[in-house]
Amino acid sequence: MNTNMNRRSFLKTTAASSAAFTWLAAPRGSNVFAAEAGKPALLGGKPAHKGGWLPWPQWREEWEPKMLEVYRSRKWFRGSGGHVADFEKAWAELLGAKKALGVASGTTSLIVSLHVMDVDAGDEVIVSPYTFIASYNAILTCKALPVFADTDPATLTMDPKSIESRITERTRAIMPVHIYGMPCDMDPINAIAKKHNLAVVEDACQAWMGEYKGRKCGTLGDLGGFSFQESKHIPAGEGGAITGMNEDLIDRCNAYHNCGRATGKFKGTGNFTRGGNFRMTQAQAMLLLQQFDKLKEQTAIRRANADYLSANLGKITGITPIRLPENSRPSWHLYPFIYDTAKFNGLTRDKFMRALQAEGVTCSSPYHEQYNDGLLDEAINSRGYKRLWGAERLKAYRDSFQDLKGNKQACETMVAIYQNMLLADRSEIEQILEAIQKIQVHSAALAKA
Ligand SMILES: Cc1ncc(COP(=O)(O)O)c(C=O)c1O
Repeated sequence: MNTNMNRRSFLKTTAASSAAFTWLAAPRGSNVFAAEAGKPALLGGKPAHKGGWLPWPQWREEWEPKMLEVYRSRKWFRGSGGHVADFEKAWAELLGAKKALGVASGTTSLIVSLHVMDVDAGDEVIVSPYTFIASYNAILTCKALPVFADTDPATLTMDPKSIESRITERTRAIMPVHIYGMPCDMDPINAIAKKHNLAVVEDACQAWMGEYKGRKCGTLGDLGGFSFQESKHIPAGEGGAITGMNEDLIDRCNAYHNCGRATGKFKGTGNFTRGGNFRMTQAQAMLLLQQFDKLKEQTAIRRANADYLSANLGKITGITPIRLPENSRPSWHLYPFIYDTAKFNGLTRDKFMRALQAEGVTCSSPYHEQYNDGLLDEAINSRGYKRLWGAERLKAYRDSFQDLKGNKQACETMVAIYQNMLLADRSEIEQILEAIQKIQVHSAALAKA
């Protein structure tokens, strides 16, 4: 905004050119331009956005020769490294990690990391409940118990204050999840881990290039896991990586992910140790290698647009941007915000999302209280879990889901738009703001509709 322009002339100018946006210049909390907001699409108005966002994943013709080269080489499996080794070197460099290992998926990155950090049958791992179900499943695959820290509803990440009360003599590790690429507050988490001698495995599956106090996600704990599944910012259909600052741990991961073959400094038993096949293919690695520049460029664009949204969403009554740890930079896999029904004249979150969709703004509320879905009941009622834990512990465990009040609130109040929308032009980002403002102004009518 031209600072020489007084407020009145600014409003006049912008109102003439774009009536809907004048409120963007208003201070936080003031709803002074309510009268200018158009009618919501659900009430017969024109949608704020034309609909249709950038398709994902993206394909670039210039990648084709390198992909063909891989297939024509007939060297498709990891073998001694090849493109997978090149990818690992580049991924470690990008994150400032000591070493990286390519694996088959984000889920396997977590399973391998947990195994290497000695999470074993009958152990407990403290994890964020507000995550994709794979975080729970990785722990269950190790025959360990996912014990939930509470979620801070203002940050959507693990509330460090809720961790210590969950620690038992069986706790072996903490698994913070940088959900939507928003870094967890790692300093207090690492301090608790150190005090109780626990491992820290970061679920960085949505946090490619996410940053906390000058360091990248995946380098903040003992090991960190990433996903390159199709919806991700650097996709390869499926794929994953493990990163860390300790070469020995990555060598151990390498051995475990490759049928237990002794690797690097990790000699194991000389021949095979326990392990599985969690390997990345050469084609996956080549596809990933070609997307590094794109990831860097697009991360900068997503951040700029997310910053713009955060600076302006807070001006809309009833919408609160997510609080981030000091000096952190998310990767924004989704862009979430907190919705307050009471301040939208009782318009339920579902109706708000329907109204937003009608404006052409794709949105959702991805995670619900999934610990009540039966997955964990199935696990703790299995023969194995009953053998590993006493009935009293399993009952207390099941009852503890009721205490996750912060998580319940997070699940009930959060709305998100998608990462591809953050790659749109600034004018389209303004249309997202316009859509939400329209709904706010007409919320009473929408609530009755
Ligand atoms: C937070 C989180 N953890 C783990 C995973 C598992 O990754 P993958 O689907 O690559 O196995 C995902 C994938 O969506 C995720 O979002």
